[in-house]
Amino acid sequence: MGEYGLDPVAAMVRWRDEHGDFVPIRFGPFRAHMAYGPAEIEEVLVDRAADFRKSFATRMLIPLLGHGLLTAEGDEWLRHRRLISPAFHRERVAGYGRIMAKYADEWAQARRDDEPLDLHDEMMALTLRVVARTLLDTDVTPSIKEIVQLLAEVQDFYYGRFASLRFLIPTSLPTPGNRGLARAIRRFDELVYGIIRERRAEEDRGDLVSLLLLARDEDGTGLTERQVRDEVTTLLLAGHETTALALTWAFMLLDGHPDVRRRLEAELVGVLGDRLALPEDLAALPYTQAVLNETLRLYPPVYVTGREAIRDTEIAGQPVPKRHIVLISMYATHRDPRFFSEPEAFRPERWLDGLDKRLPHGAFIPFGMGSRKCVGASFAMTETTLLVATIARRWRFELNAGEIATLPSITLRPASAMWGRMRSVARRAAMTSSVPGP
Ligand code: HEM
Repeated sequence: MGEYGLDPVAAMVRWRDEHGDFVPIRFGPFRAHMAYGPAEIEEVLVDRAADFRKSFATRMLIPLLGHGLLTAEGDEWLRHRRLISPAFHRERVAGYGRIMAKYADEWAQARRDDEPLDLHDEMMALTLRVVARTLLDTDVTPSIKEIVQLLAEVQDFYYGRFASLRFLIPTSLPTPGNRGLARAIRRFDELVYGIIRERRAEEDRGDLVSLLLLARDEDGTGLTERQVRDEVTTLLLAGHETTALALTWAFMLLDGHPDVRRRLEAELVGVLGDRLALPEDLAALPYTQAVLNETLRLYPPVYVTGREAIRDTEIAGQPVPKRHIVLISMYATHRDPRFFSEPEAFRPERWLDGLDKRLPHGAFIPFGMGSRKCVGASFAMTETTLLVATIARRWRFELNAGEIATLPSITLRPASAMWGRMRSVARRAAMTSSVPGP
C-alpha cells in the first residue's frame, strides 16, 4: 500500500519486473493479485469472468454513478447493456462522426496563432459537448465550465482515497471530503435531472435519453427516473473524460516527437487537403489511427481495473479465494518488452504492419476485454481520430513544459494544467518554404 501510495504506476511496473505475471499483494485489509500476463488477464476477464464482480474501487463510484452500466452487476447490467448497445452500433457511430467533426472544426476555427491555452481543459470541454450532443441531443455549452470544475473536485476526492487507506472511510460519514463529494453530486444531479425532465416533456427525439425513457420490459415496466439518471450520468462522465485524456496525451506526445508530427501532418494534407475529416476517411488515415493506438498504449486513460472473486476460483493454476481482488494494470502490460520492443518509446509505426493482429489477446486492452469491454470503444476511436485529424491538420500544440507527469486518479490524468500555445501549421509551412536556399 505504501509503495502504491507513493507512485501507483511505477509500483505496478516494478512488481511485474520483480515478480512475474501473477503477483500476490496486500492492499490494507484486502488480499489481492496483480495479473500482468495476457493469458492471466484473459482468464480473469473472459474465461472465468463469471467467478468475479467489479472490485471495491469501482463500487466506490456508486455514490456518483449509481447503478449505471459501469457499476451495475448481473441481470440489471445485462438488461441495460442490451438496451444501450444499439446506440453504439457502427452506423449510429458513423452518424455521430459528422457531429464530432463539426464540433472539432468549430474549435479549430476559433483558435488564433500563438494563443495560450490549457489543452486538457479545452479537450474536456470539447468532448463533453460532443457526447452531450451525440448521445443526449443536448447542448451543455452554458454549463461546461461548471461541469468540468465539478468533475475536477470529484477526481480530487477519489485520488485522495485511492492512494491511501482513506478509501476505508465510508462515504456516509459526514467528513469534509464526503460532504464535498455529496455537494458536487447534488449539483450534477440538478443538471442531469434537468435534461431528463426536458426530454420527458417532449416526444421521442431518437436520442439515448428518449430511448431510456421509452424502454419497456416484456411485462411493460420501464426504467425509474433514478435508473435513467444513473445511465445518463455514467455516459456523460465515462464518455468524455477518457477521450479528452487520450487527446491531451496524444498532443503532448506529438509535441515531443516532431518527426511523428510531420508524418501525421503529411498524411492529413494528402488525404484531406483543405476539407473536413469525415467518418468515411478513417480507413484512409492509418497513421493517425496508429498515433492514437500508441498514445493509448503508453497513456491508457483507464490504467487499471479490478475484479473481486465472488467464489473460490483460480487463475494461472493459483488459488484465488472468495473476496480476493485481482488487479489488471493496462499501464504495466502495455509497457511489457515481451510484446512491445522499446516499450517506453513513442513509435506509432509499430502499429502499421498488423501488430494488433499478432499480439496475444490481453496484451493491448485500453478498452478492457470480455463482456464488460467498453461499450463506447468504437465511438471513442472514431471521435479521437476525427478530432486529432481536424485539429492537427491546422494546428500544432506547443507545450510550455517539456512533458507533464501523470496523476493516477480514477483515470490517468495530467498532474498539472497542460499550458501551451497553438501554432498554425499553414503559417509555419509558409515560413519554412520562404527561407532562401543555400
Ligand atoms: C479513449 C476512451 C475510452 C477508454 C480508454 C475507455 C476505457 C474503458 C474500459 C477499460 C472499460 C472497462 C472497465 C472494466 O473492465 O473494468 C470501459 C467501460 C465502459 N466505458 Fe469506456 N472508455 C473510453 C470511452 C468511452 C466512451 C466514449 C463511452 C460512452 C460514450 C464509454 C462508456 C463506457 C461504459 C458505459 C463502460 C461500462 C461498460 C459495461 O460494463 O458494460 N467509454 N471503458
